[in-house]
Amino acid sequence: MELISIGAAQKLTSPNPFGLVTARKPDGSTNVMALSWWTYVSNHPATLAVCLSNKGYTGSCIAADGAFGLSIVGSALKDAALKAGTCSGRDRDKAAELGIPLMQLDGFGPQLVEGSRLCFACTLKASYPMEDHTLYVGRIDQIWADPSVEGLYAFQGYGALDTI
Ligand SMILES: Cc1cc2nc3c(=O)[nH]c(=O)nc-3n(C[C@H](O)[C@H](O)[C@H](O)COP(=O)(O)O)c2cc1C
Repeated sequence: MELISIGAAQKLTSPNPFGLVTARKPDGSTNVMALSWWTYVSNHPATLAVCLSNKGYTGSCIAADGAFGLSIVGSALKDAALKAGTCSGRDRDKAAELGIPLMQLDGFGPQLVEGSRLCFACTLKASYPMEDHTLYVGRIDQIWADPSVEGLYAFQGYGALDTI
């Protein structure tokens, strides 16, 4: 065995389940960002957590709005989803530019990604600063699914997306 860095370790533990986080911007439009650091954290009540870099824009939108979506998108969005992980929505509408289709759920603020394998609508319950990232914990209010859509996974850390 050899001593390695955290970045190298993350490549060795991939693939990771991948999704697009959606959050409402102050102007009411929706930001989308690529995410592989997420996990379920409770069954009763159903809860999940997403871990976002403090350099990105999405965390501030989630903190301000108190809600977020997580969509496990399918292979049709492979290229667009990867691009959503390489630019910030601070000053652009990523969903419109990348052709990511959004849908509005009844009774839930942020939009989610239409045509996904799974969509989780989450209300923010807590956030935990973790050095250069922040962990946002969301109670899952609604889960929508289409099992016929094959989900994407992140390979080589953040390097590539594909189905398994
Ligand atoms: C495959 C992939 C997975 C990613 N996973 C995460 C993640 O788990 N957490 C994170 O903070 N950024 C992750 N990123 C990087 C963000 O998506 C990227 O920094 C994005 O530009 C942030 O957008 P925003 O500024 O609109 O929030 C990932 C990028 C890719 C391509």
